[in-house]
Amino acid sequence: MKAILLAGGKGTRLRPLTVHTPKPIVPILNRPFLYYQIDLLRQVPEIDEVILSLNYQPRRIEEIVGEGEGLGLRLRYVVEPTPLGTGGAVRYAGDQLTQSVVVFNGDVLTQVDLGAVLRLHRERKAKATIVLTPVDNPRAYGLVETDAAGNVQRFLEKPGEDEITCNTINAGIYVLEPDTFERIPKDTAWSIERSFFPSLIERGETFVAYVYDGYWIDIGAPAKYRQVHRDIMDGRYHAPPFDGGPPGRSWVSPHAKVEEGVEIHGPCFVDDGAVLKTGSRILPYSVVGRQTHVDEAAVIDGAIIWPNGWIGREAVVRGSILGRNCHIGRNAVLEDGAVLGDKTVITDYSTL
Ligand code: GDD
Ligand code: MG
Repeated sequence: MKAILLAGGKGTRLRPLTVHTPKPIVPILNRPFLYYQIDLLRQVPEIDEVILSLNYQPRRIEEIVGEGEGLGLRLRYVVEPTPLGTGGAVRYAGDQLTQSVVVFNGDVLTQVDLGAVLRLHRERKAKATIVLTPVDNPRAYGLVETDAAGNVQRFLEKPGEDEITCNTINAGIYVLEPDTFERIPKDTAWSIERSFFPSLIERGETFVAYVYDGYWIDIGAPAKYRQVHRDIMDGRYHAPPFDGGPPGRSWVSPHAKVEEGVEIHGPCFVDDGAVLKTGSRILPYSVVGRQTHVDEAAVIDGAIIWPNGWIGREAVVRGSILGRNCHIGRNAVLEDGAVLGDKTVITDYSTL
Protein backbone atom coordinates (compact mmCIF):
# COMPACT_ATOMS: atom_id res chain seq x y z
CA MET A 1 0.00 0.00 0.00
CA LYS A 2 1.20 3.50 -0.81
CA ALA A 3 0.94 6.86 0.86
CA ILE A 4 1.14 10.19 -0.94
CA LEU A 5 2.59 13.08 1.01
CA LEU A 6 1.47 16.39 -0.46
CA ALA A 7 4.53 18.49 0.01
CA GLY A 8 4.52 20.87 -2.91
CA GLY A 9 3.21 24.06 -1.33
CA LYS A 10 5.37 27.17 -1.14
CA GLY A 11 5.06 27.59 2.61
CA THR A 12 4.33 31.30 2.21
CA ARG A 13 3.15 31.83 5.79
CA LEU A 14 6.45 30.49 7.07
CA ARG A 15 8.49 32.94 5.03
CA PRO A 16 11.29 33.94 5.33
CA LEU A 17 12.20 30.55 6.84
CA THR A 18 10.94 28.75 3.73
CA VAL A 19 12.80 30.90 1.21
CA HIS A 20 15.66 28.40 1.19
CA THR A 21 14.09 25.57 3.17
CA PRO A 22 10.83 24.15 1.83
CA LYS A 23 8.26 23.45 4.55
CA PRO A 24 8.60 19.64 4.51
CA ILE A 25 12.23 19.88 5.60
CA VAL A 26 11.93 22.74 8.06
CA PRO A 27 13.66 21.29 11.14
CA ILE A 28 11.70 20.31 14.21
CA LEU A 29 14.39 20.07 16.89
CA ASN A 30 17.09 18.48 14.71
CA ARG A 31 15.06 16.46 12.19
CA PRO A 32 13.27 17.50 9.01
CA PHE A 33 9.55 17.87 9.59
CA LEU A 34 8.55 15.14 7.15
CA TYR A 35 10.50 12.54 9.12
CA TYR A 36 7.91 12.87 11.89
CA GLN A 37 5.16 12.20 9.37
CA ILE A 38 7.00 9.18 8.02
CA ASP A 39 7.28 7.91 11.62
CA LEU A 40 3.48 7.92 11.75
CA LEU A 41 3.04 6.27 8.34
CA ARG A 42 5.46 3.54 9.38
CA GLN A 43 3.03 2.47 12.08
CA VAL A 44 0.88 0.90 9.36
CA PRO A 45 2.89 -2.16 8.29
CA GLU A 46 0.95 -2.36 5.03
CA ILE A 47 2.36 0.96 3.84
CA ASP A 48 5.57 0.14 2.02
CA GLU A 49 6.16 3.25 -0.04
CA VAL A 50 5.75 6.98 0.46
CA ILE A 51 5.36 9.08 -2.66
CA LEU A 52 6.57 12.60 -2.03
CA SER A 53 4.52 14.90 -4.21
CA LEU A 54 6.71 17.93 -4.75
CA ASN A 55 6.79 21.13 -6.64
CA TYR A 56 8.57 23.87 -4.74
CA GLN A 57 12.36 23.38 -4.48
CA PRO A 58 12.25 19.60 -4.93
CA ARG A 59 16.04 19.37 -5.24
CA ARG A 60 16.50 20.87 -1.77
CA ILE A 61 14.25 18.17 -0.37
CA GLU A 62 16.02 15.40 -2.26
CA GLU A 63 19.41 16.68 -1.09
CA ILE A 64 18.39 16.44 2.55
CA VAL A 65 16.20 13.34 2.51
CA GLY A 66 17.96 11.34 -0.21
CA GLU A 67 16.74 7.77 -0.49
CA GLY A 68 15.40 8.03 3.05
CA GLU A 69 17.91 5.55 4.44
CA GLY A 70 17.02 4.59 7.98
CA LEU A 71 13.43 5.82 7.69
CA GLY A 72 12.15 2.28 7.28
CA LEU A 73 10.06 2.99 4.17
CA ARG A 74 10.74 3.26 0.47
CA LEU A 75 10.55 6.83 -0.83
CA ARG A 76 9.65 7.96 -4.32
CA TYR A 77 9.82 11.54 -5.58
CA VAL A 78 7.21 12.83 -7.98
CA VAL A 79 7.78 16.38 -9.16
CA GLU A 80 4.97 18.24 -10.91
CA PRO A 81 5.95 20.31 -13.93
CA THR A 82 3.70 23.12 -12.63
CA PRO A 83 1.77 23.35 -9.33
CA LEU A 84 -1.34 21.23 -9.82
CA GLY A 85 -3.10 22.04 -6.56
CA THR A 86 -3.90 19.38 -3.98
CA GLY A 87 -6.24 17.41 -6.29
CA GLY A 88 -4.09 17.60 -9.40
CA ALA A 89 -1.11 16.52 -7.31
CA VAL A 90 -2.95 13.41 -6.10
CA ARG A 91 -3.86 12.45 -9.65
CA TYR A 92 -0.36 13.14 -10.93
CA ALA A 93 1.30 11.13 -8.17
CA GLY A 94 -1.33 8.40 -7.96
CA ASP A 95 -2.27 7.83 -11.57
CA GLN A 96 -0.95 4.27 -11.68
CA LEU A 97 -2.44 3.18 -8.34
CA THR A 98 -5.02 0.43 -8.08
CA GLN A 99 -5.28 0.02 -4.29
CA SER A 100 -6.56 2.34 -1.55
CA VAL A 101 -4.06 5.11 -0.89
CA VAL A 102 -3.36 7.21 2.20
CA VAL A 103 -2.95 10.91 1.43
CA PHE A 104 -1.36 13.25 3.91
CA ASN A 105 -0.94 17.04 3.88
CA GLY A 106 2.76 17.75 4.18
CA ASP A 107 2.42 20.17 7.06
CA VAL A 108 0.33 18.42 9.69
CA LEU A 109 1.63 16.67 12.74
CA THR A 110 -0.61 14.25 14.57
CA GLN A 111 -0.77 11.01 16.48
CA VAL A 112 -3.95 9.70 14.88
CA ASP A 113 -4.24 5.92 14.71
CA LEU A 114 -3.94 5.42 10.95
CA GLY A 115 -4.64 1.70 11.27
CA ALA A 116 -8.04 2.52 12.78
CA VAL A 117 -8.77 5.00 9.99
CA LEU A 118 -8.03 2.30 7.41
CA ARG A 119 -10.23 -0.21 9.23
CA LEU A 120 -13.15 2.21 9.21
CA HIS A 121 -12.58 2.91 5.50
CA ARG A 122 -12.77 -0.80 4.75
CA GLU A 123 -15.69 -1.59 7.05
CA ARG A 124 -17.72 1.16 5.45
CA LYS A 125 -16.49 0.28 1.92
CA ALA A 126 -15.94 4.00 1.48
CA LYS A 127 -14.78 5.82 -1.64
CA ALA A 128 -13.06 8.25 0.69
CA THR A 129 -12.42 8.50 4.42
CA ILE A 130 -11.30 11.77 5.94
CA VAL A 131 -9.84 12.47 9.37
CA LEU A 132 -11.52 15.38 11.14
CA THR A 133 -10.34 17.23 14.18
CA PRO A 134 -12.12 19.79 16.36
CA VAL A 135 -10.63 23.31 16.47
CA ASP A 136 -11.70 26.56 18.13
CA ASN A 137 -11.86 28.52 14.90
CA PRO A 138 -12.37 26.68 11.60
CA ARG A 139 -11.82 29.80 9.42
CA ALA A 140 -8.35 28.82 8.21
CA TYR A 141 -9.30 25.23 7.43
CA GLY A 142 -11.79 23.07 5.59
CA LEU A 143 -15.04 22.88 7.57
CA VAL A 144 -16.66 19.44 7.47
CA GLU A 145 -20.22 18.64 8.54
CA THR A 146 -21.23 15.05 9.22
CA ASP A 147 -24.43 13.21 10.06
CA ALA A 148 -24.97 11.01 13.13
CA ALA A 149 -23.65 7.96 11.26
CA GLY A 150 -20.36 9.69 10.43
CA ASN A 151 -21.06 10.41 6.77
CA VAL A 152 -19.74 13.67 5.38
CA GLN A 153 -22.63 15.98 4.50
CA ARG A 154 -20.77 19.13 3.55
CA PHE A 155 -17.22 20.25 2.89
CA LEU A 156 -16.51 23.96 2.87
CA GLU A 157 -12.94 25.15 2.40
CA LYS A 158 -11.99 28.33 4.31
CA PRO A 159 -15.52 29.16 5.51
CA GLY A 160 -16.59 32.75 6.09
CA GLU A 161 -17.43 33.89 9.63
CA ASP A 162 -21.18 33.40 9.00
CA GLU A 163 -20.71 29.96 7.45
CA ILE A 164 -19.35 28.26 10.56
CA THR A 165 -21.84 25.60 11.57
CA CYS A 166 -19.62 23.16 13.49
CA ASN A 167 -16.09 22.87 14.87
CA THR A 168 -14.82 19.84 12.96
CA ILE A 169 -12.28 20.51 10.24
CA ASN A 170 -10.36 18.54 7.66
CA ALA A 171 -7.18 17.31 9.36
CA GLY A 172 -5.49 16.80 5.97
CA ILE A 173 -5.40 12.98 6.13
CA TYR A 174 -7.43 10.82 3.78
CA VAL A 175 -7.85 7.29 2.52
CA LEU A 176 -8.96 7.38 -1.11
CA GLU A 177 -10.01 4.86 -3.73
CA PRO A 178 -8.06 5.42 -6.94
CA ASP A 179 -11.07 4.66 -9.14
CA THR A 180 -12.28 8.15 -8.20
CA PHE A 181 -9.20 9.83 -9.64
CA GLU A 182 -10.53 9.84 -13.19
CA ARG A 183 -12.72 12.81 -12.37
CA ILE A 184 -9.66 14.89 -11.53
CA PRO A 185 -8.60 16.71 -14.69
CA LYS A 186 -5.08 15.90 -15.80
CA ASP A 187 -2.46 18.58 -15.92
CA THR A 188 -4.48 21.49 -14.55
CA ALA A 189 -4.55 22.92 -11.06
CA TRP A 190 -7.47 21.35 -9.19
CA SER A 191 -8.30 21.39 -5.50
CA ILE A 192 -9.11 18.26 -3.57
CA GLU A 193 -10.89 20.40 -0.98
CA ARG A 194 -12.93 22.66 -3.26
CA SER A 195 -13.72 20.20 -6.06
CA PHE A 196 -12.98 16.55 -5.28
CA PHE A 197 -14.66 16.26 -1.86
CA PRO A 198 -17.79 18.19 -2.91
CA SER A 199 -18.02 15.87 -5.94
CA LEU A 200 -18.27 12.81 -3.67
CA ILE A 201 -21.18 14.40 -1.80
CA GLU A 202 -22.96 15.48 -5.00
CA ARG A 203 -22.68 11.96 -6.41
CA GLY A 204 -23.92 10.37 -3.19
CA GLU A 205 -20.77 8.27 -2.82
CA THR A 206 -19.73 6.80 0.54
CA PHE A 207 -17.62 9.52 2.13
CA VAL A 208 -16.85 8.79 5.75
CA ALA A 209 -15.40 10.84 8.60
CA TYR A 210 -13.09 9.62 11.33
CA VAL A 211 -13.11 12.14 14.17
CA TYR A 212 -9.87 12.42 16.11
CA ASP A 213 -9.52 14.70 19.10
CA GLY A 214 -5.94 13.90 20.10
CA TYR A 215 -2.82 15.78 19.07
CA TRP A 216 -3.07 17.62 15.77
CA ILE A 217 -1.40 20.77 14.47
CA ASP A 218 -0.71 22.41 11.10
CA ILE A 219 2.80 23.87 11.31
CA GLY A 220 2.16 26.31 8.48
CA ALA A 221 2.74 29.57 10.43
CA PRO A 222 5.52 30.73 12.79
CA ALA A 223 3.44 30.64 15.98
CA LYS A 224 2.41 27.04 15.23
CA TYR A 225 5.97 26.12 14.38
CA ARG A 226 7.08 27.30 17.81
CA GLN A 227 4.10 25.59 19.42
CA VAL A 228 5.16 22.20 18.02
CA HIS A 229 8.46 22.53 19.84
CA ARG A 230 6.74 23.36 23.11
CA ASP A 231 4.42 20.40 22.61
CA ILE A 232 7.31 18.00 22.07
CA MET A 233 9.22 19.37 25.06
CA ASP A 234 6.12 19.15 27.25
CA GLY A 235 5.33 15.61 26.08
CA ARG A 236 2.03 16.51 24.41
CA TYR A 237 3.48 15.14 21.19
CA HIS A 238 5.75 12.14 21.70
CA ALA A 239 9.10 12.43 19.94
CA PRO A 240 12.69 11.81 20.87
CA PRO A 241 14.56 12.86 22.87
CA PHE A 242 11.75 14.13 25.12
CA ASP A 243 9.29 11.23 25.00
CA GLY A 244 9.13 9.22 28.13
CA GLY A 245 11.49 11.50 30.06
CA PRO A 246 10.68 13.58 33.15
CA PRO A 247 8.92 16.88 32.46
CA GLY A 248 11.07 19.99 32.13
CA ARG A 249 14.15 18.09 31.05
CA SER A 250 16.86 19.89 29.14
CA TRP A 251 18.52 17.87 26.41
CA VAL A 252 22.11 18.92 25.73
CA SER A 253 24.07 17.01 23.11
CA PRO A 254 27.19 15.29 24.40
CA HIS A 255 28.86 16.96 21.41
CA ALA A 256 27.98 20.47 22.54
CA LYS A 257 30.57 22.58 24.34
CA VAL A 258 29.16 24.07 27.52
CA GLU A 259 31.51 26.30 29.47
CA GLU A 260 31.40 26.74 33.20
CA GLY A 261 28.88 29.21 34.54
CA VAL A 262 26.25 28.59 31.88
CA GLU A 263 22.64 28.41 33.09
CA ILE A 264 20.40 25.91 31.33
CA HIS A 265 16.74 25.81 32.28
CA GLY A 266 14.67 23.00 30.83
CA PRO A 267 12.87 22.09 28.84
CA CYS A 268 15.22 23.01 26.04
CA PHE A 269 17.32 21.43 23.31
CA VAL A 270 20.99 22.10 22.55
CA ASP A 271 22.24 20.34 19.44
CA ASP A 272 25.60 18.84 18.41
CA GLY A 273 28.52 21.22 18.13
CA ALA A 274 26.74 24.14 19.82
CA VAL A 275 28.99 26.31 21.95
CA LEU A 276 27.60 27.96 25.09
CA LYS A 277 30.04 30.50 26.49
CA THR A 278 30.32 31.36 30.13
CA GLY A 279 27.49 33.36 31.67
CA SER A 280 25.08 32.60 28.84
CA ARG A 281 21.56 31.53 29.80
CA ILE A 282 19.37 29.09 27.93
CA LEU A 283 15.80 29.49 29.14
CA PRO A 284 12.83 27.15 28.69
CA TYR A 285 11.53 26.17 25.24
CA SER A 286 14.71 27.20 23.47
CA VAL A 287 16.40 25.29 20.68
CA VAL A 288 20.06 25.99 19.99
CA GLY A 289 20.87 24.49 16.61
CA ARG A 290 23.89 22.55 15.46
CA GLN A 291 27.18 24.50 15.57
CA THR A 292 25.48 27.62 16.91
CA HIS A 293 27.65 29.82 19.07
CA VAL A 294 26.11 31.58 22.05
CA ASP A 295 28.56 34.14 23.30
CA GLU A 296 29.23 35.26 26.86
CA ALA A 297 26.20 36.35 28.89
CA ALA A 298 23.83 36.09 25.95
CA VAL A 299 20.25 35.01 26.75
CA ILE A 300 18.18 32.61 24.65
CA ASP A 301 14.61 32.59 25.88
CA GLY A 302 12.03 30.43 24.15
CA ALA A 303 13.73 31.03 20.81
CA ILE A 304 14.47 28.56 18.04
CA ILE A 305 17.84 28.98 16.40
CA TRP A 306 18.68 26.93 13.34
CA PRO A 307 22.21 25.63 12.73
CA ASN A 308 25.35 27.74 12.39
CA GLY A 309 24.05 30.81 14.19
CA TRP A 310 26.14 33.31 16.10
CA ILE A 311 24.59 35.06 19.08
CA GLY A 312 26.79 37.90 20.27
CA ARG A 313 27.85 38.77 23.78
CA GLU A 314 24.98 39.89 26.05
CA ALA A 315 22.47 39.69 23.22
CA VAL A 316 18.92 38.65 24.12
CA VAL A 317 16.91 36.47 21.74
CA ARG A 318 13.39 35.95 23.01
CA GLY A 319 10.47 34.07 21.46
CA SER A 320 11.96 34.37 17.98
CA ILE A 321 12.88 32.02 15.16
CA LEU A 322 16.24 32.40 13.43
CA GLY A 323 17.06 30.67 10.14
CA ARG A 324 20.45 29.17 9.35
CA ASN A 325 23.66 31.18 9.69
CA CYS A 326 22.13 34.20 11.39
CA HIS A 327 24.48 36.61 13.09
CA ILE A 328 23.16 38.57 16.06
CA GLY A 329 25.50 41.34 17.17
CA ARG A 330 26.49 41.99 20.75
CA ASN A 331 23.85 43.49 23.06
CA ALA A 332 21.20 43.23 20.35
CA VAL A 333 17.70 42.49 21.63
CA LEU A 334 15.19 40.43 19.67
CA GLU A 335 11.79 40.37 21.25
CA ASP A 336 8.87 37.97 20.82
CA GLY A 337 7.79 37.15 17.33
CA ALA A 338 10.87 38.06 15.29
CA VAL A 339 11.40 35.64 12.39
CA LEU A 340 14.71 35.98 10.58
CA GLY A 341 15.60 34.36 7.28
CA ASP A 342 18.88 32.55 6.67
CA LYS A 343 22.05 34.66 6.93
CA THR A 344 20.37 37.66 8.54
CA VAL A 345 22.86 39.98 10.21
CA ILE A 346 21.69 42.11 13.13
CA THR A 347 24.12 44.85 14.03
CA ASP A 348 25.48 45.26 17.57
CA TYR A 349 23.06 47.07 19.94
CA SER A 350 20.07 46.81 17.57
CA THR A 351 16.58 46.23 18.97
CA LEU A 352 13.96 44.32 17.05
N1 GDD B 1 2.32 18.67 -4.75
C1 GDD B 1 1.61 19.73 -4.40
N2 GDD B 1 1.19 20.59 -5.39
N3 GDD B 1 1.33 19.96 -3.10
C2 GDD B 1 0.60 21.05 -2.78
C3 GDD B 1 0.14 21.98 -3.74
C4 GDD B 1 0.46 21.71 -5.13
O1 GDD B 1 0.12 22.47 -6.04
N4 GDD B 1 -0.54 22.97 -3.10
C5 GDD B 1 -0.51 22.66 -1.78
N5 GDD B 1 0.19 21.51 -1.60
C6 GDD B 1 0.44 20.84 -0.32
C7 GDD B 1 1.06 21.76 0.71
O2 GDD B 1 2.47 21.61 0.69
C8 GDD B 1 0.48 21.24 2.01
O3 GDD B 1 1.26 20.19 2.54
C9 GDD B 1 -0.87 20.65 1.61
O4 GDD B 1 -0.81 20.47 0.20
C10 GDD B 1 -2.03 21.57 1.99
O5 GDD B 1 -1.78 22.85 1.50
P1 GDD B 1 -1.78 24.15 2.46
O6 GDD B 1 -1.42 25.33 1.61
O7 GDD B 1 -0.99 23.90 3.67
O8 GDD B 1 -3.32 24.26 2.78
P2 GDD B 1 -4.04 24.84 4.07
O9 GDD B 1 -3.25 24.57 5.29
O10 GDD B 1 -4.44 26.24 3.80
O11 GDD B 1 -5.40 23.96 4.10
C11 GDD B 1 -5.34 22.55 3.99
O12 GDD B 1 -4.98 21.95 5.20
C12 GDD B 1 -5.92 22.13 6.30
C13 GDD B 1 -5.39 21.37 7.48
O13 GDD B 1 -4.16 21.85 7.85
C14 GDD B 1 -6.72 22.04 3.53
O14 GDD B 1 -6.58 20.67 3.24
C15 GDD B 1 -7.77 22.27 4.61
O15 GDD B 1 -9.01 21.69 4.22
C16 GDD B 1 -7.30 21.62 5.92
O16 GDD B 1 -8.25 21.87 6.95
MG1 MG C 1 -1.40 23.89 5.73
